Amino acid sequence: MARETWATRIGFILAAVGSAVGLGNIWRFPFQTGQEGGAAFLLVYLLFVVAIGFPAILVEFVIGRRTNLNAVGSLRELGGGAWRYVGWLFVVTGFVILSYYSVVAGWFARYLVVGVTDGFTVTTEAEAAELFGIVSTGLDSLVFHAIFMALVIGIVAMGVRRGIELAVKVMVPAIILFLIGLAAYGTTLDGAGAAYAYYLSPDFGVVVDNWTSLLPAAAGQAFFTLSLGMGVMITYASYLGEDRNLATDAGVIVFLDTAIAVLVGFVVFPFIFAAGTDPGQIAVGAIFFSLTQAFATLPFGTLLGIVFFGVVTIAALSSAISILEVLVSYLIDEHPIDRLPATLGAGGAIFLLGVPVTLDLVFLDLLDGLADGVLLVLGALILVVFVGWVIPDVGLSELGQGITSVDPWDDIWLWMVRLPIVIVLVVALALGALDYLEFLRVDFAAWLGS
Ligand code: TRP
Repeated sequence: MARETWATRIGFILAAVGSAVGLGNIWRFPFQTGQEGGAAFLLVYLLFVVAIGFPAILVEFVIGRRTNLNAVGSLRELGGGAWRYVGWLFVVTGFVILSYYSVVAGWFARYLVVGVTDGFTVTTEAEAAELFGIVSTGLDSLVFHAIFMALVIGIVAMGVRRGIELAVKVMVPAIILFLIGLAAYGTTLDGAGAAYAYYLSPDFGVVVDNWTSLLPAAAGQAFFTLSLGMGVMITYASYLGEDRNLATDAGVIVFLDTAIAVLVGFVVFPFIFAAGTDPGQIAVGAIFFSLTQAFATLPFGTLLGIVFFGVVTIAALSSAISILEVLVSYLIDEHPIDRLPATLGAGGAIFLLGVPVTLDLVFLDLLDGLADGVLLVLGALILVVFVGWVIPDVGLSELGQGITSVDPWDDIWLWMVRLPIVIVLVVALALGALDYLEFLRVDFAAWLGS
């Protein structure tokens, strides 16, 4: 059977934006920004997106479009030798990320249902924490993890055009429109002024004092939010025809993902300041506390909350399908297996791997720390070294395709990919791996002992 392709160029762009925009923008970005000191973090993150994220997304695009193969097969085809095994890393990463990503997405879907059935009524921190406890662990969490994975499997099983492309054409515009509406509402809140000041005027002292945690956090966020480091963009570009200008597409995708993250700050921080929460305190779960408290007190709060949690659920869905597609594409390209059984098999296995996360949040840290701190950075590092040093000619010729004039940007791109980006990634990997070992040695060991 012929391999599938996108029906339209906009379909490809929206699918890539749908992949990029997800929990990374709406859940991870605000709490990272809050923990790392507000505007200063925003600035460094923006710098990394332009200097690292944009060149790195092109690295994945050139591999995928050149080979029209999945993330494992494309490296085998271009690199040969030991490169045939390297893509396996992406398969492992995909399993790990999607297993907990689906659980967290299930929490947002659960809050959506809370809003619809009961409205948001919880006003004290203690009640908010209790609600989060119910949502995030045990049966509720398990059921919503199952529902979310079922949706992901359903869309991916429909295929590239009828499933993914159709779904993102509806989802991505809806995400953008609703976020703009929520941000506009945010301007009317008490505390909006303080929120914008916190979000937009950088305190450079923070960068100087905290650079050892701020720099890797900003680099990690840039990679996670652009879906880099596990072959999503290889896979999506592999469904392209030959005639497109990759750099323009990458520019549009990076711009939209970043604009949406920045927009989310304009939604979340006014709500958080309106609820009177210290933004430095909004960690993994606490962002739920302050948001539900805000929705309980604001006029039309329940409606706003339903829209907000609905948007997050949709955004997470369009990201999750991209992760499962990496695995499914690998299975159907490389093995005599059809899309439906491949999707059910991979999706079912991911559901099982996520079950421990629904029982105890320590598994969230265990999987997220591994994926985010180690696997994604390692994957991105391997890919930039591969394109920069092993197949630079393929990279350049693929990048030049669809462009009439060859310009100096190609050489600048190659230079960035060969050295500065490699250095940043090596440092980020070292810091991330040390951090993760520390987590295993201290926190996880304490959990095992208890
Ligand atoms: N970028 C998505 C987000 O911001 C998450 C995501 C989807 C992802 N696919 C990925 C992250 C691949 C890393 C690798 O939520």
